[in-house]
Amino acid sequence: MLNKINLWKKSSNSSTLRDRIVNTKQHSIPSHIAIIMDGNGRWAKRRALPRIAGHHEGMKVVRKITKLANQLGVKVLTLYAFSTENWKRPKSEVDYLMKLPEEFLGTFLPELIEENVQVKMMGNKEQLPTYTLNAIEKAMVDTKDNTGLVLNFALNYGSRVEILEAVKHVLNDCKSGIMNENEITEDVFSSYLMTSEFNDPDLLIRTSGEIRLSNFMLWQLAYSEFWFTDTLWPDFNEEDLLDAVDAYQSRQRRFGGV
Ligand code: FPP
Repeated sequence: MLNKINLWKKSSNSSTLRDRIVNTKQHSIPSHIAIIMDGNGRWAKRRALPRIAGHHEGMKVVRKITKLANQLGVKVLTLYAFSTENWKRPKSEVDYLMKLPEEFLGTFLPELIEENVQVKMMGNKEQLPTYTLNAIEKAMVDTKDNTGLVLNFALNYGSRVEILEAVKHVLNDCKSGIMNENEITEDVFSSYLMTSEFNDPDLLIRTSGEIRLSNFMLWQLAYSEFWFTDTLWPDFNEEDLLDAVDAYQSRQRRFGGV
């Protein structure tokens, strides 16, 4: 009985929070949320399971969080799924992580299409196995006309490499006369990054208690609000996302002004 009451109380609280977020503060729903999904390995270790079990559970959370973010009216959800540094992990774990997009999209693509979600990817495609790239590219084609939330996977993504590549590209354009160096503004430079079609994230979430950026969107996060939680990614749920958005809505963003 006690459990039932607690459960009821929990879902009643989260529906109140959801109502408040959606109905009274719709104007300040973060348009772009970026998430560093951390803690899969520790989640598995605590259960004496192999690390890949944590990644598999984490994949299911991606589905839940995408659905809620779309319902809340978030426009872009960027998820750090594999960094340029993650290749240093044991081959068996890397292989598993590379198969996850195929499994995720093989399972959930029809639902994502039904929910009007558009799938995108940013990162270096060249090093990705063919099956990973094929799964992502098929999803991108199948969802290209969707107008709801953009689910943007950062896959084989590293922010320093992204910035270096943008610098080289800008230099080339200056050398070849396409652009003059006086025209390089922040907006122009942003247009050379992999996120050129999106606004910068309004809110960054990192799970698992780590308080660092780990080479994620270093330029784009300059004025974002940060929200950290000790919750491990496989345990992250709808209520956690609502808490993060609620915290975001209570922040005063000044962008350097007063
Ligand atoms: C970090 O946790 C997590 C990753 C490097 C992988 C994230 C991937 C997913 C959540 C699944 C992605 C799903 C799709 C659909 C592509 P960690 O392994 O570093 O955890 P630890 O710090 O506890 O060891």
